[in-house]
Amino acid sequence: MSGLKGRDLLSMTDLSADETLALLQLAADLKQGKVNPICRKSLGLLFYKSSTRTRVSFFAAMSQLGGQVIDLNIGSMQIGRGEPLADTARVLDRYLDVLAIRTFAHADVETFAKYAQMPIINALTDLEHPCQVFADLQTIQECFGQLAGLKLAYFGDGNNMAHSLMLGCATVGMDIAIACPANFTPDPAIVDRARSIAAIRGTEVVITQSPQAAASQAHVVYTDVWASMGQEAESDTRIPVFQPYQVNRELLTIADPEAIVLHCLPAHRGEEITEDVLEGTRSRVWDQAENRLHAQKALLVSVLGDD
Ligand code: CP
Ligand code: NVA
Repeated sequence: MSGLKGRDLLSMTDLSADETLALLQLAADLKQGKVNPICRKSLGLLFYKSSTRTRVSFFAAMSQLGGQVIDLNIGSMQIGRGEPLADTARVLDRYLDVLAIRTFAHADVETFAKYAQMPIINALTDLEHPCQVFADLQTIQECFGQLAGLKLAYFGDGNNMAHSLMLGCATVGMDIAIACPANFTPDPAIVDRARSIAAIRGTEVVITQSPQAAASQAHVVYTDVWASMGQEAESDTRIPVFQPYQVNRELLTIADPEAIVLHCLPAHRGEEITEDVLEGTRSRVWDQAENRLHAQKALLVSVLGDD
């Protein structure tokens, strides 16, 4: 994995198909205990938004590798008093070996990447959530023994998850259909980028308002919250708009009979997914959440090297 050493991971497009598949292989090997790399370096966590899975799995991953974690408390940083990100990036670069950032504006992680030499990892921005998608792909591969040739159907908001899933599925040769309300479609620039990657692989990126069309023949049924972090004030007004896109038992009857259900979590039962489906036999959400640990451990080893 030396090819990723020193690199930033801001977008799914930062890794080629071969690099993505190699990362997933390393994640699987780590999960099975086939490899046990040691990495005694320092990871910083700079989170402007809440997080359970990403924060704790990064913490656990680095600790299990033998490294240090410094959980930077945004409230006690000078950023809050106006210190520029460019200055903060250059200073943190002198203390840390890698920095994972969760924030609102994607431009902020790009600023860190520009001013810091160490690898910068996007731990979620309003635009993308690549760390989640590595774990998603790992989970799909575990369930089906393959990625290429499968179809993922995503239901709900054309948000950061939809963006990274589109790019990730296109990269590994999966078809993807995004079913979303008319005014909540994904960023057209990301759709174009995903379609240009998909064209090379001969796969499809479909954006539709029809949940039934998206679900048809889907091997993976995926959903996310209807109001992301920062959009809480819109939660109530969004519910009736998104209701037709709920992942429920009826929708699952349209998908492939062997289809699995994924959700990045946290879930809002009764909104984007029903309780019976989330807790049902098709759901793989807890394995998916576990894989955050293995996939991010693979990412840390890859960008840091195991020396
Ligand atoms: N799925 C995910 O990123 O969860 P957290 O917000 O808890 O990190
Ligand atoms: N779209 C969600 C993902 C949470 C993991 C959000 O940004 O809040």
